[in-house]
Amino acid sequence: MDKPKVVLGVSGGIAAYKACELLRRLTESGHEVRVVPTASALHFVGAATWSALSGNPVSTEVWDDVHEVPHVRIGQHADLVVVAPATADTLAKAAHGLADDLLTNTLLTARCPVVFAPAMHTEMWEHPATQENVATLRRRGALVIEPAVGRLTGVDTGKGRLPDPGEIFEVCRRVLARGVTEPDLRGRHVVVSAGGTREPLDPVRFLGNRSSGKQGYALARTAAARGARVTLIAANSTLPAPAGVDVVPVGTAVQLREAVLRAAPEADAVVMAAAVADFRPAAYAAGKIKKKDGQEPEPITLVRNPDILAEISADRARPGQVIVGFAAETDDVLANGRAKLKRKGCDLLVVNEVGELKTFGSEENEAVVLGTDGSETAVAHGPKEALAETVWDLVAERLS
Ligand code: CTP
Repeated sequence: MDKPKVVLGVSGGIAAYKACELLRRLTESGHEVRVVPTASALHFVGAATWSALSGNPVSTEVWDDVHEVPHVRIGQHADLVVVAPATADTLAKAAHGLADDLLTNTLLTARCPVVFAPAMHTEMWEHPATQENVATLRRRGALVIEPAVGRLTGVDTGKGRLPDPGEIFEVCRRVLARGVTEPDLRGRHVVVSAGGTREPLDPVRFLGNRSSGKQGYALARTAAARGARVTLIAANSTLPAPAGVDVVPVGTAVQLREAVLRAAPEADAVVMAAAVADFRPAAYAAGKIKKKDGQEPEPITLVRNPDILAEISADRARPGQVIVGFAAETDDVLANGRAKLKRKGCDLLVVNEVGELKTFGSEENEAVVLGTDGSETAVAHGPKEALAETVWDLVAERLS
């Protein structure tokens, strides 16, 4: 099989150096990459670097190798165009259909999915001109990833950072794997909870669970790659933030509930993948609980935590909102799943069987997704992203 052909557009921002890492990941995972930098990008990283890392010639202008008509051919033959970093200037040119160099010509001739990963100062990103250009590009079907928040060039911090190259690579991989030109969750806002809550006993101890957060992160990553605005409420996870995803860190079930209730009114869909502790210690000891010679420990009294999934399902923040729950079961998986779907009142329930090597911390998962309409969608053993894609397929169906 031919290698997938990726055009990596690089525009002139300091984050251009991070595109080297994206390029390396693309080539090492079997993609044929043609780098098309703008003239300004070459002020940051030279043509020799792009050429050596991609194994392909590099030009910025339409006047090189004219006999090969590169200004048309490169875009026509691409399976994916990704522009990282995309500056305010490149976004503006793309939105207005300008074509004064090889990259902008390529963007006009490409018929494949196009991903922009913007990076710029916060003021430039927030400027109405940039925001309107982004909205135009999204309306036309391009996937414009939200910039990350953090340190910018110099001493500034704010929104405008290029997301982690590894996470941009994941977006490219998902978009190529789906082979769909239009991001089908474009214009939708989804809320995903992930990880496991921790219920503190004293300043050094907590009651927790073994959830790694990987399934929730896969859901967030795949939704962003399908064009959704994603709020990821992450309980005690140390996984890297997926590109374009707004991460809200939380600790306890009560904090998770507050974050979900805050985000839900704007959400088209809420997916509760987090492992929420059903109980918490009735009391929190302000000082460390010490052992005492010759004395048995005090028993720990637990109280119930609020059931967030049941609460948001009973009291829908928006008409037509799709709510998805998760259930880990050890036996009678389907029967227990059906009963839980009814009890929780959500629209879909992802039921998976838990065992020693299954689910927790693993890269893979298998499950059945139960719907209130009686549907049963089995997802074979495979990457957590595959299960995530099925969940979004079912959510998208219900949203339309
Ligand atoms: N959940 C929640 N709030 C809780 C507990 C769970 O929102 N306090 C959500 C989880 O995020 C998950 C789903 O509910 O989506 C299933 O949780 P589970 O603990 O399996 O449900 P329970 O009703 O507690 O079932 P069981 O009796 O099996 O513990």
